[in-house]
Amino acid sequence: MSGDSLTAPEQISPPEASDFISDVIAGLSSNPRTLPYKYFYDERGAALFQKICELPEYYITRTEIDILDRNRAEIASHLGPNLELIGLGTGAGTKTRILIEALETPAVYIPVDISEKQLHESTANFRKIFPDLEILPVCADYLQPVVLPSPHHKPARNVVYFPGSTIGNFEPDEAVQFLRRVANVCREKGGLLIGADLKKARDVLEGAYNDRAGVTAQFNLNLLARANRELGADFDLDQWRHRAIYNSDAGRIEMYLISESDQFVYLDEQRFHFRRAEKIVTEFSYKYSPEEFSALAGKAEFEFAQMWTDDARLFGVFYFVVRSG
Ligand code: AVJ
Repeated sequence: MSGDSLTAPEQISPPEASDFISDVIAGLSSNPRTLPYKYFYDERGAALFQKICELPEYYITRTEIDILDRNRAEIASHLGPNLELIGLGTGAGTKTRILIEALETPAVYIPVDISEKQLHESTANFRKIFPDLEILPVCADYLQPVVLPSPHHKPARNVVYFPGSTIGNFEPDEAVQFLRRVANVCREKGGLLIGADLKKARDVLEGAYNDRAGVTAQFNLNLLARANRELGADFDLDQWRHRAIYNSDAGRIEMYLISESDQFVYLDEQRFHFRRAEKIVTEFSYKYSPEEFSALAGKAEFEFAQMWTDDARLFGVFYFVVRSG
């Protein structure tokens, strides 16, 4: 990522028609077998994730919104006036809206999102709500280097906003590498406002990822359904079961799809054999203590400034500034 390179100001075009097929084949051929979590979010997956956020067991989204809401003035004063706010994976923009409303004369908002539909809709919506704000949407996979547009307004500083505990999907060392790239975008005086899910009791964590209504199961199984739809695979959805466990040694939720029978799946003229009870890893979701998370960001040139949390300390909204000197 670099704020220095110039691109068209209205940069709404989807990322490369994608390596979905090669990623699926590589994942199913590896040991242990995996399917990359980034493919959860097609239109149906995004809608299912929306439903997850409303589940009684899934505390993450509503807790983060509540933390923002209660602390909006204090957060805004830490971030300061005339910001270039760069939102990573901000989706429909519910949280970002709360943040921007609280900011003092924000200069520019650059939402970066992989979902073209959500980016279009939220940009149109934000242009109505914030007519004076320069909004430069970028449709991109922020895991790849992204060229950011140059704003007309000169901001006082850049702040990257990365909500939702999406950072939890990264392996810790990948997270550090990613945050180093973010630190480059922030440059001297910039900051990072980031949501991270905190460590807590196993039953709360496992409940959040094994909801009673089975929405998370549908979300997980949608990966197979999507491979069927888009790649012509022939996964029999009745022969796969969702499961999430908390691995407390690694500090992460692990999501699996488990084969219910000895079966073959055909994809791109290849045949994949699955034994009964064999697992495909679909997602890790790391949980951090406040100290662990600050140490992680510290490895990426960020200095802890503040954390806001809820009474039960379920979730943390952290503000880091780029370390000077
Ligand atoms: C979007 C990565 C924060 O890890 O909680 C929700 C994704 N997976 N339920 C999470 C997810 C299953 C979510 N993140």
